Amino acid sequence: MSETSEKPTIYKGLVGVYADVSAVSKVMPETNSLTYRGYAVQDLAENCSFEEVAYLLWEGELPNAAQLEAFKQETASQREISPALHRVIREFPKDAHPMDAIRTAVSFLGLEDPEAGDVSHDAQYRKAKRLFAKIPTCIGAAYRASRGLDPVAPNPAHSFAENVFNVIQGRVPEKEVLKSFDVSMILYAEHTFNASTYTARLVTSSGADMHGAITAGIASLKGPLHGGANEAVMHMLKEVGDPAKAAAWLHGRFDHKALVMGFGHRVYKSGDSRVPTMKKYAEKMAEVVGDRTWMEISRILAAEMLEKKNIHPNLDFPAGPAYYLMGFEIPLFTPIFVASRITGWSAHVLEQQADNRLIRPLSWYTGPEQRPVPPLAAR
Ligand code: SDX
Repeated sequence: MSETSEKPTIYKGLVGVYADVSAVSKVMPETNSLTYRGYAVQDLAENCSFEEVAYLLWEGELPNAAQLEAFKQETASQREISPALHRVIREFPKDAHPMDAIRTAVSFLGLEDPEAGDVSHDAQYRKAKRLFAKIPTCIGAAYRASRGLDPVAPNPAHSFAENVFNVIQGRVPEKEVLKSFDVSMILYAEHTFNASTYTARLVTSSGADMHGAITAGIASLKGPLHGGANEAVMHMLKEVGDPAKAAAWLHGRFDHKALVMGFGHRVYKSGDSRVPTMKKYAEKMAEVVGDRTWMEISRILAAEMLEKKNIHPNLDFPAGPAYYLMGFEIPLFTPIFVASRITGWSAHVLEQQADNRLIRPLSWYTGPEQRPVPPLAAR
């Protein structure tokens, strides 16, 4: 493509740009809805397990009972990580952020993966399922090592949700908590070309492998403008501390034109389709725990943001207090997002590979005009 003399339209942040086609999910801001392979995410959240949704994202269809049982057995049997990776995790700095820990652990899994050099569809799909199975184990081992605790061995009889609580907290909570957690996994699983998913597709477009794409996706998700917001939301709620102080706290943010974490969205402009469902289950968690403080502060902040800024909350806003009420420490919130989004990321990696074109956009040059190199003595 020849360079034009006329500056073209620049779409900074690729706002509004359709970069490719995809059959994985569809966001419909005009009706405030989201579907995974044609199924409304709210229906999936209420009627399916996260394992069924993971299968759906990869296979394109919901599993029948036999397919689901086989999928659960296959992935649950792959949750263990190697003694070498346990040794490496024990060497992580104790104050390392859990997102940096899981990013490094996934990269190490790539080093020792039995199909490391194979980027065929089937090998990449098997890698995706191994990551789905092992990421919670890595999150738990790194978190527990940072607190001087031994890792908890994953139990293949546990569901995905039970396993996450077991390897991180060393316990399996009651059914209402497991259901709220499973709903959050389904809601977090996939969301078209968000920053971390597009990162994974971009890495894949050069022919790079699954672990490289997922490592890059994790690096992108950590950012506070993206997945890191769910941790920032809980820090914000704790900073407010008291519902009676919420409105005044927020007005202070307005005065400094500061971002309010958990609000706004690039695609949804009249509300994030996932929020009502996640809010419902965050409220359930408040009932289970018997502490409504965080949901009350959230209610006031959301009402003020809508009235004063016409800005709606995104999924991270109810997810933060929900995870806090489930007993997870705040730095684990975004790694838990990783444990879910590995499904969407890898579904997009497989889709990118199936109809690939190297992703390489243009830049419009604004630097100095071409000039001769002066000798060192003359500089
Ligand atoms: C996720 O893309 C996805 O699908 C992501 C995600 C997924 O599932 O993968 O949904 C997950 O990342 C959700 C977003 C989590 N991030 C946050 O909660 C961080 C806070 N949000 C903002 O940084 C912001 O809303 C973004 C980054 C999410 C979206 O930014 P945009 O589309 O670039 O919007 P913008 O920055 O152009 O905002 C438009 C206006 C601006 O005001 P003006 O400069 O025009 O006066 O709205 C304001 C912004 O300042 N605004 C906010 C705000 N979000 C937007 N003001 C205060 N607080 C906010 N949170």
